Amino acid sequence: MSYAVVYSSHTGNTALLAEAVREALPQEDCIYFGTPDLKALTAETIYVGFWTDKGTCDASVAQFLQELTHQKVFLFGTAGFGGAPDYFEQILNRVKENLGRGAELTGTYMCQGKMPMSVRARYEQMEEGPRRTAMLENFDQALHHPNTEDLVKLKAAIVK
Ligand SMILES: Cc1cc2nc3c(=O)[nH]c(=O)nc-3n(C[C@H](O)[C@H](O)[C@H](O)COP(=O)(O)O)c2cc1C
Repeated sequence: MSYAVVYSSHTGNTALLAEAVREALPQEDCIYFGTPDLKALTAETIYVGFWTDKGTCDASVAQFLQELTHQKVFLFGTAGFGGAPDYFEQILNRVKENLGRGAELTGTYMCQGKMPMSVRARYEQMEEGPRRTAMLENFDQALHHPNTEDLVKLKAAIVK
């Protein structure tokens, strides 16, 4: 069955997931691997990866999803905030709104992804208090993701 892996990655986290998807599937069936491109639309299944930008997928992925007509789609993504599972669900619901009518969603996967140190510096400037502590804790937790376990879980979600 032909497939394509289409992804957008600003700082490399989602690219790690995209590589894991490719590793989990037969190389000979891959017709496209790379940034959003209409060439991918001929694949039967498209694995679409996004980084979270202000609570939803980045614009290039949103636009690509709108081009889908009948393909099977598996969505995968990374986000800086990972503490609450509901948060991933909210993001995925917003991302799904972009899916072209007729596209068939076969699965989803999200994990946390590290953020640049400049973000931590900004948190450090915040007023002392529980919110600042929570932001810093989340930032430090994100530094360890995506890790090997995240990638193993993604592969398992894809080949099941
Ligand atoms: C401009 C910008 C906006 C972001 N917005 C969010 C957000 O709304 N929620 C979130 O959890 N993470 C947010 N992040 C964090 C990234 O989604 C996260 O670090 C992601 O793993 C980056 O993936 P990439 O390395 O593939 O680009 C944002 C990062 C940037 C640079």
